[in-house]
Order: sequence, then structure tokens, then C-alpha cells
Amino acid sequence: MCEQIYQNPPATIAIDGPAASGKSTIGNLLANKLGYISLDTGIMYRAVAYKAIQAKVDVYDGEAVSDLAERIQIDIRPSTAGDGCQFDVIIDGEDHTWDIRSPEVNQVVSEVSVYPRVRNAMTELQRKIAKNGRIVMIGRDIGTVVLPLAEMKIYLEASVEVRAQRRYIEELARGKKVCLDEIAESLRHRDEIDSGRAVAPLRPAEDAIVLNTDDMTVYEVVEYLMGLIARR
Ligand code: DC
Repeated sequence: MCEQIYQNPPATIAIDGPAASGKSTIGNLLANKLGYISLDTGIMYRAVAYKAIQAKVDVYDGEAVSDLAERIQIDIRPSTAGDGCQFDVIIDGEDHTWDIRSPEVNQVVSEVSVYPRVRNAMTELQRKIAKNGRIVMIGRDIGTVVLPLAEMKIYLEASVEVRAQRRYIEELARGKKVCLDEIAESLRHRDEIDSGRAVAPLRPAEDAIVLNTDDMTVYEVVEYLMGLIARR
């Protein structure tokens, strides 16, 4: 099979959207197809939230959470376990790949993400990682704040019902006992905080391609985006 050659692939691709909109799966597939690296920036905010819980820092104490975020060491590496997670997440030298996905972290991660010093610290790290290009960066504010000059910006939308259903199926497949209504409620809670915060709120960049994926599979979205890249 011939490898597809793209005339003018975007060196940096920003993918933003609400929780469980498929950003990470789609971003990672796109990066694989292009031979790029991908960075799911949600992992970094999750690492801060996890560390705050572990250190018994009050997540409503902005100064304490910010101090912690400015000191934290986050290392994101390709997975070695083959356990369904694309990346290993090493926080201050310890593997917390699965801990950062816990319901406890889900509950407070949006709260810790509102603090400007937390965002500055994470944004600085993200820009360093992106400086050589050939990257798909996934998050909430990548197209608007972190990489405003990204050559391609994608904003994925889906209704809360569809996102909850997708997350529910994923969790069941992992053998977890989950409740669809609770998932939907947690997504609504995070949407509200992520979109309503003063600094870097979740919203599409003016020059983003906005895609509603309610009626699309992951593969349809990826094919559509690869088609756009091929026609550039
Ligand atoms: O994509 P995710 O669900 O793993 O993200 C977890 C939280 O991190 C999300 O609720 C808000 C925050 N986040 C953010 O504020 N900015 C980003 N670029 C990525 C994530």
C-alpha cells in the first residue's frame, strides 16, 4: 500500500471541544496518520487535580493549587502497559495513568482549571512541547489561547446526551459499574465551569472548523478531517 503524501499538511493542529466529545481519540488517530505527536492537555489539568487531592490541598484554595501547579513534574510517555490507555502519565516520578481518570478527579478537575496561575503554568509547558510543530494538541483553549496561530483548528461538538452515552459504553467496556444519568450530570457540571470561567473559557476560535459529531462515528470524523488535509 502506498503511503499518502500530503502537499501542505498543517504543522500544528488544535482540537478543542467539551468533555467526552471524542477529541482525544480523534486527535490521536489523526496524529498517527500524519506521523505527528499528540498531546492531550486535559492530562495536565488532571495531574494537578490528582496531586491536589493527594496532598490534601483544598481545591478551592487558588493560591495553594497554583503553587502546586508551578512545581509539578508531569511526564507523558507512550503507553508501555497495553491496557487501553494511549499514554503513561508520570507525576513527580510516579505512574498515575489511571488515577487521573478517577471519579474523584473528574469531580474537581474543572475547578482547579479556572485559576490563572495554573493555566499559565500549563500553557507555558504546552507551548514548549509544540514549538517544533508536527503536533496535534487537544484541549479546551488550544485554538484560542495556547496556539492561536495553529495552522488548523478543529472544534468538536456533540450533545450532552450523546457524549454521556459514549462515555457510558466506554466505562462499561472497561468493566466499571456506571450510571448514565450520573455521567450526564458530571458532563453538564464540567461544561458549565469550562465554558463559564473568566480565563481561557471553552469556545471555538473564530477560524475553527466546527463539527457536530452527534451522527458521526470516530472514523467518519477522522476521514473527513484527513480529506480536508489532503485538499489543502
Ligand atoms: O479533556 P479532559 O476531560 O481530560 O479535561 C479535563 C479538564 O481539564 C476539563 O474539564 C477542563 C480542563 N482543561 C482545560 O481547562 N484546558 C485544557 N486545554 C484542557 C483541559
